[in-house]
Amino acid sequence: MSEVCVIGVGHVGLITAVCLAKLGHSVIGVDKNAERIDQLRRGQCPFYEPGLEDLLDEGLQRGRLSFSQRLSDGIVGSEIIFICVGTPAVADGRADMSQVEEAARAVAQHMTGYKLIVEKSTVPVKTSQWIKRTIGLLNRRGVEFDVASNPEFLREGSAIHDFMHPDRIVIGVESERAKQLMLRLYEGFDCPILVTDISTAEIIKHASNSFLALKISYINMIADLCERAGADVRMVAEGMGYDARIGRAFLDAGVGYGGSCFPKDVKAFAALAEELGVDFGLLREVDRINEGRIERLMAKLREALWVLNGKQIGILGLAFKPDTDDIREAPSARLIERLLRETDVRMKLYDVKAMSAMRELYPPDERLAYVDSPYEAARDAEAIVILTEWDEFKKLDLVKLKSVMRTPIIVDGRNIFEPDHMQELGFEYYCMGRKNIRNHF
Ligand code: UDX
Repeated sequence: MSEVCVIGVGHVGLITAVCLAKLGHSVIGVDKNAERIDQLRRGQCPFYEPGLEDLLDEGLQRGRLSFSQRLSDGIVGSEIIFICVGTPAVADGRADMSQVEEAARAVAQHMTGYKLIVEKSTVPVKTSQWIKRTIGLLNRRGVEFDVASNPEFLREGSAIHDFMHPDRIVIGVESERAKQLMLRLYEGFDCPILVTDISTAEIIKHASNSFLALKISYINMIADLCERAGADVRMVAEGMGYDARIGRAFLDAGVGYGGSCFPKDVKAFAALAEELGVDFGLLREVDRINEGRIERLMAKLREALWVLNGKQIGILGLAFKPDTDDIREAPSARLIERLLRETDVRMKLYDVKAMSAMRELYPPDERLAYVDSPYEAARDAEAIVILTEWDEFKKLDLVKLKSVMRTPIIVDGRNIFEPDHMQELGFEYYCMGRKNIRNHF
C-alpha cells in the first residue's frame, strides 16, 4: 500500500484518486476549490462519470480516501504526489503551465522527506524537467526527490473502466527507486507495463493521441472520396477494420474531432516537432483536414438550401461527443460561429447535457435560441444539422420530426441514420461519405 497525494481533483485527478483508493492505496485529494472539496467530502461528484459516485463512497467509507484544500496536508504525509492540475491553452495555442509550477513550488516548500512527483495531466514534453528544476531551486533542505511521467489515456464517459482496464501502463522514470514505487502502485494489473525514460513516456502520450486524430482525419478524407465515387465510407471502414494491423476503432467519419485533448495535442505535438527541428507536416495536415470539416458541412447546407440568408436551422448536439457535457473545441461551436457570420441565419439549439455550457459561450439572442427538445429545434426549420451522436437522436420519432419542419432536410454530421430509410420517410438526407438523398424536381 502506498501513501498518495493527488493535486487537482478535476476529471483526471478525481478518477486517479478514487481508482487508486479502490486498489487499496491511501489517497488524499487536494484542490484549491473549497466548494469542490466540501462536495467530495460529502460524497457528491462534481461532474458525471459512470461508476464514479460508487467508488467515491467506497473510498470515503473505508477511510482510504480523504480531501483537503491545503496542499501541505497532502504533501507532508505522502510519498507519491500526482500532479493533475489543469493546463489550459493560452491564446497562441501553447499550454499555460502556471498551475503545474504552483504545485511544484508547494511540493518544494512542504516536503520534509523523499517524494516522487508524478505528472499525469497531458503536458508538453520536457515538463518534468521544469518540475525538477523548480523543486530543485527551492529545495533548501536538500530533501531527496524524483520526478516521473505516468500519462493517462482515459476517455470521458468511460474513465473508470479505462483506468481499471488499461491497454497498457506507461511509466517514465529516472531512478530505480522511482521505478519500484510506481510498479508497486500498479501491482496486480495484468496489462503490459512499459518502463521508459521520462521524455519517451511524454512522447508516447502525444504520439498516441495524434495517431488517433490522424486516423479520424484519414477516414474523413476517405469519406469525401467515397461521396465523389458513389461508395460508402461505413463499409470501407469496416473492410479496413478487419485487418488487425489497422483496426476498426476511430474510423468513424464525420464533422471531425473535438474535445480537450486531440485538437490541443495535435497542434502542440506539431509545434514541438518544429521546435526540435523536425518537419512533421503530416500533423499540420491532420489538423488542417479537421478544421476543414466545418466547411464541408457548410457546403452541404448550401447544396441543400441554396441561399442561407434568412433561413431557420435546428442544431442537434452541442457536446463534442455523446455522454458528456463538455463543449471544448466542439464542432458545434465552430459551426455556430460560422453560421453567425452569414446574414440573418437563425438557429435553434438542443443538446442532452451541454446546453448550459454553450449558453455561457453564446448567450441567446434574436438569432440563437436554446430549446427543450429536438422537436422544438426542428419546429419551422428549413434544415436540421446533427453534430453529436447522442442515443436520444438515434431514437427520434422521425415522422413527428418531419411533421414540424418547414422543409424535411437533415444534414447529418455523424452518420446516425440509414440513407435508404430516410428516403422512405421522405427526407432529404445529407450525410458524410455515404449516399446523399436529394430530390430532383
Ligand atoms: C481522448 C483519447 O481517446 C484519450 O485516450 C485521451 O486520454 C484523451 O483524449 P476524449 O477526448 O475523451 O479522449 O474522446 P474520444 O472518445 O477519444 O473522442 C475524441 C473526438 O474524436 C470526439 O470529438 C469524437 O467525436 C471524435 N471521433 C472519435 C471521431 O470523429 N471519429 C471516431 O472514429 C472517433
